[in-house]
Amino acid sequence: MSTRIVVPSPRSINRSQLSYIRPHSPSGNIEVPKPAKIDRDNLVYESEGEIPKARKINLEHVHYLTPEPSVLEQNVHSPETPGTENFEPFAISADLEEKANNRIAQYPADQKRSAVLPLLHEVQHRFGFISPESIDWVAKKLDIAPIKVVEVVTFYPGFRQKAPGKLHFRVCRTLSCAMGGSYELMAKLCEATGIDRSSADGHKDPISVSPCGRYSVEYAECLASCGTAPVCLVNDDFHEGVAADKVQDLIAQYNG
Ligand code: FES
Repeated sequence: MSTRIVVPSPRSINRSQLSYIRPHSPSGNIEVPKPAKIDRDNLVYESEGEIPKARKINLEHVHYLTPEPSVLEQNVHSPETPGTENFEPFAISADLEEKANNRIAQYPADQKRSAVLPLLHEVQHRFGFISPESIDWVAKKLDIAPIKVVEVVTFYPGFRQKAPGKLHFRVCRTLSCAMGGSYELMAKLCEATGIDRSSADGHKDPISVSPCGRYSVEYAECLASCGTAPVCLVNDDFHEGVAADKVQDLIAQYNG
């Protein structure tokens, strides 16, 4: 059983944000059940038992329904880190446009969304990471919604949403490397570079940057060299058999 409530106008609800709508009022004490779905222009609330929850709603307070951050906003990070200075800010140049157009032209006209990976690679290669502005630009180039680009960026761990350090370490932590000491390697890397990984979130915010902005670390999954564990990437360089006590030597190779 459900109770239908006609929401007074003027109002607007972004259907993509439906599951994030939450009750809110200036006094914070108005109880409004979470909408179950939007049926045309109406909000439909789930009801419980014989007395529908919706009876508690004072319609004049419907104005106070405010959306929580959208999926897009929740998944696009602020790119600001101490490493931001290592990279040029995202800017659309004639060269970038030409490169993107050439890439897009490699796909059928009605399938240009297929160029999303090459375009993202191009952005990350030039600007170090995928910023919110670059997501918008890629979406516009491909005539798709920005959330579609975000889905790709958040699916592939190779894409970064925040500025890394000049030296970016990716430490494999899959089984062979984990058993071979990759966690100790990460701990030593953080110790040697002054990186605090206490707030790192492996899924949403995997990169940790040193206060000086020169170094950053993240875990990676199998880098396809399980026989020489533990392994890591330093930018695009592959290093095998990196024992934790060799971290200083590894860093020195790049600081010499
Ligand atoms: S487990 Fe690390 S390279 Fe495969």
